[in-house]
Amino acid sequence: MTAKIIDGLALAKAMRTGFADRVGALARHGVTPGLAVLLVGEDPASAVYVGRKIKACSAVGIRSFAEHLPVSVGNAELLGRIVELNADPDMHGILVQLPLPPHIDMPRVLETISAEKDVDGFHLYNVGGLVTGSTVFSPCTPYGVVKLLEHEGIPVEGQNVVIVGASNIVGKPMALMLMARDATVSICHAKTRDLAQYTILADILVVAAGVPGLIVPQMVKQGAVVIDVGINRLPDGRITGDVDFEGVRRKAAAITPVPGGVGPMTVTMLLENTIKSAERRLALAS
Ligand code: GUN
Repeated sequence: MTAKIIDGLALAKAMRTGFADRVGALARHGVTPGLAVLLVGEDPASAVYVGRKIKACSAVGIRSFAEHLPVSVGNAELLGRIVELNADPDMHGILVQLPLPPHIDMPRVLETISAEKDVDGFHLYNVGGLVTGSTVFSPCTPYGVVKLLEHEGIPVEGQNVVIVGASNIVGKPMALMLMARDATVSICHAKTRDLAQYTILADILVVAAGVPGLIVPQMVKQGAVVIDVGINRLPDGRITGDVDFEGVRRKAAAITPVPGGVGPMTVTMLLENTIKSAERRLALAS
């Protein structure tokens, strides 16, 4: 068997084309969706991600800006800036790029962002909403994975889903979103003993561990769907996922490549959430 390659870039492009209609409809009401991105410090990877987000916004007509704060910024100053943006009617989304420097109180930062503008889906209200089904915004990466599965017509209900990685950004919300769709979900993490005994049972294997080549063919069930969320830079500069792509593609039914799989969907769902936020505000105002 050779797996179908799930083309995240193509779906991301198609979805972004569709956003133009929604942005046009908002424009007819005098509304331009707006996204504020706060970047603290000098993390080079964060600067690249923020640059991509701003560029993607401008391509679909979202007004966005990145505000670069020095690594020495204090908690009070950062929280104060978020409070200002919460009150700014032109900003429908606020995103604070993670990771933050260690002296910053990250939970407080995330909870200060209005849940109504939390297009990252990291506010406690939105995190809790994943459990109860009352979330305003879903976190972008797992939301992008759900969209990829839907688009590929891959059923989730009743399937054995194994998630490798239990982060707040990907693994945990991914588990809740797939449980809400009636999958049977197992979460593995760095302390899991004998990872392979779990992964081999997966009908759908989602890997977000940040370990290049962690998943090898012997760990994958014949005919499984493999979603690789990993983005790792190798010493030679190449970007690679958490899955041995060349090996596993011979065993899986479908697999996402890195790059070109989940990555482009993450930014796309940020655009979706920002447009949705502007639409919600317009609906509430009318
Ligand atoms: N750092 C890595 N991924 C993300 C993300 O999805 N949102 C934010 N704000 N920071 C990140």
